Amino acid sequence: MNDRIFSASDYHWSTSHLRNRIKPHFLDFDHYPEPFKAYDAIKKIGFPKAIDPAKKDLIDLFSEIGSGKPGRRFEPASLSKVLFLSYGVTRAETSGKISFFSRTVPSAGGLYPCHIYLIVRHMEGFETGVYYCDMRQESLILIQRGSFSEGDDKTLDISFVITGSFFNSAWKYRERAFRYLLLDSGHLIENLFLALKAEGLCSRADYAFDDDKISALLSLDNEKEVPLACIHSGGKERKPGKRFEGGLNLSGPCSKEIKKERQEISYPILNHIYELGKPGFKNGSVDPESVNVLTLESEGPISFLNFEMVKAPLDYEKAVFSRRSKRNFITEFLDRKKASVLMEAAAGLHPEIGHLSTRARTFLILGVSLQNVEGFDDGFYLFSEGTSSLHMIRNGRFHGPLSRVCLDQQWISNASLNFLFMANLSGLEKAFGPRGYRLIMMEAGRIAQRIYLAATGLGLGCCGVGALYDEEAQALFDLNPDSALFYVVAAGRIKGKER
Ligand SMILES: Cc1cc2nc3c(=O)[nH]c(=O)nc-3n(C[C@H](O)[C@H](O)[C@H](O)COP(=O)(O)O)c2cc1C
Repeated sequence: MNDRIFSASDYHWSTSHLRNRIKPHFLDFDHYPEPFKAYDAIKKIGFPKAIDPAKKDLIDLFSEIGSGKPGRRFEPASLSKVLFLSYGVTRAETSGKISFFSRTVPSAGGLYPCHIYLIVRHMEGFETGVYYCDMRQESLILIQRGSFSEGDDKTLDISFVITGSFFNSAWKYRERAFRYLLLDSGHLIENLFLALKAEGLCSRADYAFDDDKISALLSLDNEKEVPLACIHSGGKERKPGKRFEGGLNLSGPCSKEIKKERQEISYPILNHIYELGKPGFKNGSVDPESVNVLTLESEGPISFLNFEMVKAPLDYEKAVFSRRSKRNFITEFLDRKKASVLMEAAAGLHPEIGHLSTRARTFLILGVSLQNVEGFDDGFYLFSEGTSSLHMIRNGRFHGPLSRVCLDQQWISNASLNFLFMANLSGLEKAFGPRGYRLIMMEAGRIAQRIYLAATGLGLGCCGVGALYDEEAQALFDLNPDSALFYVVAAGRIKGKER
């Protein structure tokens, strides 16, 4: 298949689901992927004791522009809190020989293919070096000690590196797994960001790092595991634009990864699509026509609706720790205020200014299909960029057909809001190269995480949906041939008591 994949867009369409043409797949539970890595550690440190959290309001946290107090240094007590909130284990269950762990983020198929590593430059009580975050054992494993390399920014404290393990997702999703690695990591990035913000720490997402250098620092075998995003935090705010290479010289012994004997099927297309994005972003320009996802002939009533900016105090930490995917939606009307909070949460993630990735982000188009929401006509809407308004594209009830498009997951038809993540993949790639695809998928995951948390805080249900008959999805919303709907997030009222 690889000889036909020249672009991220080729990858996307070649991994489409087609009705009645999905190859049957046996889920081999004898080789269930392990969501945590194990090391023969040269040094292991239990998570530092966390101090009591200051109560934070989720909506305030969402709306804080920028983050943290410049100059504030990263302290060990913040670290455990940040890690628990970002990717902590909230429940463990065993079925037969397999343990399943719930986390503060959702993950396609519950497979949790992402890992967090730390590049510690400066943190009191910690050696400079590279660490793996073992979220099950609540400990940090020193992979290797390091020292500052010449010219490194010594005022930067910590970088979190998020990676994805191919097999963990491919076990279920096969060639389509790269999509899920990216969406999953986006959910995790946003959780990490919010946790850092709650701690008052500066942070910046970096999607343009040097993959080879970061992989070498983390001792990653790129056939199996790849870096997807870096989040820099603490110290001075890092200026965007410079390609991040890790900035550490490693020396001395190295912790060895302990690998379980397990049959891992490899899918060469996953390495191939990853390799395509490695050279970094192309420096393109954004032509408004190439961003458009709709067919030119798109008709229908055009109206602008302002959704209210609503103040709804929601306990941030409670929302994070109680978040689960809920699908038991009911069709009763959702009140306008709650719908507005959800839409505001989704539309309020503004890209950081000043980098190529910010311009590439323009290609992520957010829509929503509303049904049974007080004060809104049922229909398919797009969010107008930079404003709190919706632009109705088509009047009507889309949730029944959407549930069929989403591999006949009937429960989707009962949700009040189905958020729609779309992009003109050809336009994106022409301007920014295949790295742009990585970016918009992760940014979609970030927005989706905000919707999950806001829904949880409001006592509503929410569930991400990555399973789509891709071409049917394109047809349902009259997308042009260059554009794809690649993620849906359903939200709305559920059975039982509401907040
Ligand atoms: C990218 C992504 C895609 C998902 N796709 C689906 C889906 O198509 N259908 C579904 O029922 N759940 C889907 N989920 C939800 C996961 O099944 C759920 O997060 C996982 O089982 C863990 O459960 P929890 O979220 O309740 O902790 C998806 C989640 C993510 C993050």
